[in-house]
Amino acid sequence: MKAIFSLLMVLALVVIATVGAGAAKMQTIFAYCIPGTAFIIFVVGFVCKIISWAKSPVPFRIPTTGGQQQTLDWIPQNKWDNPSTGPQTFIRMALEVLTFRSLFRNTKVVLKHDDGKNPIVAYVSAKWLWLFAILFHYGFFIVIVRHMRLFMQPVPAPIAFLDWSDSILQILTPSIYISDLLILGGLTMLLARRFTDAKVRYISLVNDYFPLFLILGIALSGVYMRYVAKVDIMSIKDVVMGLVTFNYKVPAGVDVSFFVHLFLVSTLLVYFPFSKLMHMGGVFLSPTRNMPNDTRMVHYENVWNNPAIKPHSYEAYEDEFREPMFEAGLPLEKTPEDAA
Ligand code: HEM
Repeated sequence: MKAIFSLLMVLALVVIATVGAGAAKMQTIFAYCIPGTAFIIFVVGFVCKIISWAKSPVPFRIPTTGGQQQTLDWIPQNKWDNPSTGPQTFIRMALEVLTFRSLFRNTKVVLKHDDGKNPIVAYVSAKWLWLFAILFHYGFFIVIVRHMRLFMQPVPAPIAFLDWSDSILQILTPSIYISDLLILGGLTMLLARRFTDAKVRYISLVNDYFPLFLILGIALSGVYMRYVAKVDIMSIKDVVMGLVTFNYKVPAGVDVSFFVHLFLVSTLLVYFPFSKLMHMGGVFLSPTRNMPNDTRMVHYENVWNNPAIKPHSYEAYEDEFREPMFEAGLPLEKTPEDAA
């Protein structure tokens, strides 16, 4: 039901843009007003969210670690999983962001049987999620960088080179982009995982299906524009340059699929800061990842401690309650006799 509801919402967005920019001829609204407003909501929403996270107190060092922490010289430290310095933590973060290293260790619970055929719960490696996620994210990233050719005149050489190498397969006319296959393949498999794995399906919400369908809608409408409708890219570039140069004029002959594509992108921009997609910015602020594990080397004072609340050590606590604790038979560090 949640998946169908999300799909219907995306289809409704497609209908709104088709009718609005096609039959109702509200092209200026769909080309400039809606994307412009969506972009402002995205930037302001993104920045506010990051500021609110950056201001949240992190009173303790709470890195999630794996492997050996720094200790005696002759015991090798696992520097990337259990970093103790800033540079080591930087490498850990870079590996996390660029290669999704923690997802590579993803496990799933399965029921196995021992020699006596008794069922036992086991955790086995599940690398598929990592693979689907990598395909999708890198596909998405390359598509976005390549799109910059629509916003710039002349097109910078690195973007032109990326465009050339991405279409190096030279299949079909216009040539298929490898990143289109990556993004569509990754999205399809991420969706299929939610449909086929009963445990994942059980915990999936509209907030999980909707972004997948929405991004799939964006990618499919883009693919439709390029390979099926074979839209006039020069007139579209005029529209896009108008967005960037504040010259709002829609030339005749722009295919309606462009407005559908742009409307879905605008929806994504508005939805982004309020959704789980904010992990894109949040990962950098995650205290379980961005802190070195140096609690045995450095003493931390919680800067948010209320000075009015005085610390109460166990020693002082025992001094206060030694007699009743002794009478109740509780273990003590110092008996009343020792303390006397
Ligand atoms: C989340 C952002 C976006 C995603 C994921 C996306 C995705 C795609 C994909 C997968 C294609 C197929 C061909 C290709 O890969 O180039 C495409 C084509 C296209 N997109 Fe986007 N797009 C996005 C944003 C935009 C924006 C903001 C614009 C313009 C303002 C735009 C304009 C176009 C155009 C004109 C094409 C056809 C390109 C051609 O014929 O070569 N897209 N898009």
